[in-house]
Amino acid sequence: MQTFPFRHHNPAGPAYRRGWVDDAVAAIEADQCRTADTHLIRLIVPALSGIDIYLKDESTHPTGSLKHRLARSLFLYALCNGHIREGTPVVEASSGSTAVSEAYFAEMIGVPFYAVMPRTTSAEKIAAIEHYGGNCHLIDDGRALYAEAAALAARLNGHYMDQFTFAERATDWRGNNNIAESIFTQLQGEPRPLPDWIVMGAGTGGTSATIGRYLRYRQYPTRLCVADVEHSAFFDCFRTQDRSQTCDRPSLIEGVGRPRCEPSFVPGVVDRMMKIPDAATIAAMNVLSRRLRRPVGGSTGTNFVALCRLASEMREANVTGSLVTLICDSGERYRQTYYEPAWLAARGLNPAPFEAALSSFLATAEPLALDVDDMVNPQSVPGPTAS
Ligand SMILES: Cc1ncc(COP(=O)(O)O)c(C=O)c1O
Repeated sequence: MQTFPFRHHNPAGPAYRRGWVDDAVAAIEADQCRTADTHLIRLIVPALSGIDIYLKDESTHPTGSLKHRLARSLFLYALCNGHIREGTPVVEASSGSTAVSEAYFAEMIGVPFYAVMPRTTSAEKIAAIEHYGGNCHLIDDGRALYAEAAALAARLNGHYMDQFTFAERATDWRGNNNIAESIFTQLQGEPRPLPDWIVMGAGTGGTSATIGRYLRYRQYPTRLCVADVEHSAFFDCFRTQDRSQTCDRPSLIEGVGRPRCEPSFVPGVVDRMMKIPDAATIAAMNVLSRRLRRPVGGSTGTNFVALCRLASEMREANVTGSLVTLICDSGERYRQTYYEPAWLAARGLNPAPFEAALSSFLATAEPLALDVDDMVNPQSVPGPTAS
């Protein structure tokens, strides 16, 4: 549980107060104080006995995704840096999830909120932002997202939150109940409490940066695998060690995959990357949703493909251990897209063969034949081959 200094903590101290900013920070901290941690679900896969699979369920935050953590951190960072004052309009560039969470915190502290998003953003996310009193500016060219958001903030004399730049530094990577610390605390009572791998996708890259830094800081033997999507620059950036890589087509998987290597992506802490085809992402989303008896979002499918590939490798090497990934958000947000056969067909996505391969792997533990671009960080120290 996070602790924080309550206002008026020391009645004998100076009377000086920062007024509205103190109240805004206190409101966000009090919200955190009322919050329970998200569940770490153990996925039961009898065929894979000896390989324990855990899913950190970030869909259960009040605003429905892992971005609840980031939005809280970004608001605290901006308030404590003096960027947001009473009445400051807050503007964000987002594919949707971050904007939903930021709209929630903006309403909490009473500042106007503007989300600049691609026109393809799901209707559910737009409705959620408006529910919290936020305004949505939809644009056609995703590559113009950053410039449009910066320009809008300048016009409004507001603050451009810029998650893609600040995600990695707004989160306290040493602990303070960040997602990595929470995972390791929750694993304490498990048979294999130090996972072989943690798998995560990349949108800003901030969550993977927090996890990778924390692993190093605590000297854990766990490695970090980042699962990228078909239309995204991150994998090429990692492969070539060139941050100027770009991708012309926008990602079909909301929240993950970017046209450029975002500043918050920290490839040096990533041990391995895989580039998952979109049809495989959808297939894994379906397979996992059936196993959990509730729908997960697209980016969770991306994570799950990479996790299954790692589990298959461990099986083939006769290695026991544990694996962790995230349920980033719920599938309820994507009923009209990833769960809609006509939407998939219109984009030429056929998950059926991947679904068959993944289902068969989880039922039999026979090797998963799913070739994807896969690259180990050349600077990574290899892990043990058997345990
Ligand atoms: C649904 C979803 N999954 C995964 C991610 C990736 O997280 P990060 O931005 O920390 O890389 C995002 C980011 O927006 C997201 O919205």
